[in-house]
Amino acid sequence: MSITGIKGMNDILPADVTTWQFLEQTARDVFGIYGCQEIRVPVVEKTELFCRSIGETTDIVEKEMYTFNDKSDNSLTLRPEGTAPVMRSFIQHKLFNQDQVNKLYYMGPMFRYERPQKGRYRQFHQIGAEIIGIDDPRIDAQVLAMLSHYFEAVGIDDVSLQINSLGCPECRPNYRATLIAFLQERMEQLCPDCQRRCASNPLRVLDCKAKSCKEATIGAPSVLDHLCAGCETHFSAVQKHLDLIGTKYSINDRMVRGLDYYTKTTFEMITNNLGSQNAVAAGGRYDGLVKELGGPALPGIGFAMGVERLALLLENKEINSATPKLFIATMGEEAENLAFKLLNQLQHQGIYAEMDFSGKSLKAQLRRADKLKCDYTLFLGENELADGKAQLKCMTDGKQTALPLEGIFEQLSQLLDAQATTSL
Ligand code: HAM
Repeated sequence: MSITGIKGMNDILPADVTTWQFLEQTARDVFGIYGCQEIRVPVVEKTELFCRSIGETTDIVEKEMYTFNDKSDNSLTLRPEGTAPVMRSFIQHKLFNQDQVNKLYYMGPMFRYERPQKGRYRQFHQIGAEIIGIDDPRIDAQVLAMLSHYFEAVGIDDVSLQINSLGCPECRPNYRATLIAFLQERMEQLCPDCQRRCASNPLRVLDCKAKSCKEATIGAPSVLDHLCAGCETHFSAVQKHLDLIGTKYSINDRMVRGLDYYTKTTFEMITNNLGSQNAVAAGGRYDGLVKELGGPALPGIGFAMGVERLALLLENKEINSATPKLFIATMGEEAENLAFKLLNQLQHQGIYAEMDFSGKSLKAQLRRADKLKCDYTLFLGENELADGKAQLKCMTDGKQTALPLEGIFEQLSQLLDAQATTSL
């Protein structure tokens, strides 16, 4: 029996890779405009890193981590998200000494043992960004503007940005206590998971998908009515600056997020086109995280986008993959040899060219040239060699030109190179 891949972990096949490369390249381009630099961190970290940052009572840490002991009995975990590893690296390498503000982005696989379904996988990929060092609300607005800019740049417009504030260590305990009191009066209506969460992580009850929990929490106290003066001023300033730059958003005071490190602003980019996996991107401020992980008391804010979900939203949109500039169709060994030499010269020049290597008939070679959507086809057969001229056919208008074999590489390279620059 052949060996298959692991449930919830997908291959990304060549037909889909074009979309992925487009999503990744656009991130590099857009994030670069905002001054972000890429950081690459390992996929495995000490388990303790995630317990301390994401939170012991979160679903991720309680049930979803791929944790194992290595041969030296160290507990290691495949990263379930990127923020904690990036902060670990930021602290370890004292990046804060190099610059007062650090704007970082990353992309790569993450691992969560969740029940796989459309848009939810066990190995999935995130593209994320983290801005460390500034607590000014204008940075929150900048991060959201950058996120919206990215969605515009990749052409996904059926999404909406929701924002909330989760307060800070000064005001959250008060809200938590008020919420627990509210939930305790409705304990029997809550699902068993939420009955347990009520004491450990009561805010998550507001996010439960169970119908009974949804009904029980109608009219629950709003976090936004319990913000301290500092958090309230911050949240108003975020909105003011979003309005100033025309970034559209709505407020959702029931958005609680599944990770414990958040303070103040949180947000999600939501779509209606992916069923229940409706968050395409999510993030927020985490002003206490760097200190919690042993670094200086520096504020931070960031987000991560789910690449599989972005790719699903682009499924029906055409993303152009590279097509050959030239296909060299041949007949006869001498023509093949000349074509092979020409092909290698053109490729070395940076021109995408193709020829046949499997002895196909001329007709079959032309079918392949058509399928590959190449710009030009060059015919090289015995007659052409005898005449000292090859026939070049433009595949868009069908026009045919005779090209002298002498100096053919220079002529082709000039024509196709000029073509490459004009089509950029
Ligand atoms: P998160 O909400 O856990 O936040 O994940 C961010 C995004 O990753 C989600 O909105 C979703 O698009 C994608 N995602 C999460 N789990 C899966 C899955 N099982 N399958 C497919 N896609 C998934 C974080 O991870 C935070 N680190 C975000 C952040 C960065 N906050 C501040 N900085």
